[in-house]
Amino acid sequence: MEGAISSSPSTRVAVVTGGNKGIGLEVCRQLAGNGVTVVLTARDETRGAAAVKKLRELGLSNVIFHQLDITDASSIARLADFVKTRFGRLDILVNNAAFGGVEYARDPAYASVTSDEELRGMDRDQRLEWLWRNSRETYDAAKKGLQTNYYGTKHVIEAFLPLLHASSDGRIVNVSSDFGLLRFFRNEELKQELNDVGNLTEERLDELLDMFLNDFEAGKVDARGWPAAFTAYKVAKAAMNAYSRILAARQPAPRVNCVHPGYIKTDMTAHSGLLTPEEGGRRVVEVALLPEGGVTGAFFEDGEEASFV
Ligand SMILES: NC(=O)c1ccc[n+]([C@@H]2O[C@H](COP(=O)([O-])OP(=O)(O)OC[C@H]3O[C@@H](n4cnc5c(N)ncnc54)[C@H](OP(=O)(O)O)[C@@H]3O)[C@@H](O)[C@H]2O)c1
Repeated sequence: MEGAISSSPSTRVAVVTGGNKGIGLEVCRQLAGNGVTVVLTARDETRGAAAVKKLRELGLSNVIFHQLDITDASSIARLADFVKTRFGRLDILVNNAAFGGVEYARDPAYASVTSDEELRGMDRDQRLEWLWRNSRETYDAAKKGLQTNYYGTKHVIEAFLPLLHASSDGRIVNVSSDFGLLRFFRNEELKQELNDVGNLTEERLDELLDMFLNDFEAGKVDARGWPAAFTAYKVAKAAMNAYSRILAARQPAPRVNCVHPGYIKTDMTAHSGLLTPEEGGRRVVEVALLPEGGVTGAFFEDGEEASFV
């Protein structure tokens, strides 16, 4: 699968993480449909190869597969080596892979069969309430949420920065969430610190995330004023937003922006969302394909620049 296509030097090259399903698969489909050569990555070879096959059957021959588990340093290094050898640069990095930070009381795949009926007539808040009732926040899931959504994403970015610098118009799109907005932090000091990206450092972010996990384990999430409900997911996305802003302030290129795809029917939401993966993917791709010379360090929601707070 890896060796199946070639790409001319003028064709843009993208890497998409978690490309085997949901929003990530749609991002791959739509980028490829826009003439971008897409390296669709997935942690599971079989699921990834099946996704590429699906896109090839749609006539998209410019998609190739490479394995990537964003929590595995050697897997990240192998992918970066592959892209370097094959293309010598990277134009677009879409960090889409993530974990919900909770355990579901029911298997999400099973929920996809049942939830339509149960959710009929419910608005967004009622659906989120339903999802919350069917979720359980455990320490292990919270830790995995931070390891995947923040540290995994950060390590992928670090590995690809040299290749993004080698592009004439490199860009990073971090698939974030409105759940990562700072308004969910009930502790005013924490909120201000995470918003003060002129003074915030990566080391301080690490300290704050360690503090969060300690508080989580000690049952002090409420006492400290961390976000309520889907706590680890919100903290991890807020940290990723803050890191994106730190990176953007440090260097003008590559451009690094965050985007909320909307509330989408995928496994992550046990298919409770209001929009389709196609609609969510479109919002991500719009940011990935913004004209040259645009904004960096921004958050996009509903197709427009919005506040991180
Ligand atoms: N759905 C929503 O309403 C919504 C809202 C806001 C933001 N988002 C964000 O949108 C993005 C996509 O979410 P989704 O809804 O499409 O979720 P999804 O259907 O659950 O897909 C998640 C993807 O991430 C992959 N993944 C998880 N851990 C990974 C790891 N360690 N290494 C590599 N890949 C990994 C999964 O692979 P496997 O198949 O192997 O598990 C899967 O491909 C996420 O960043 C999510 O936070 C979603």
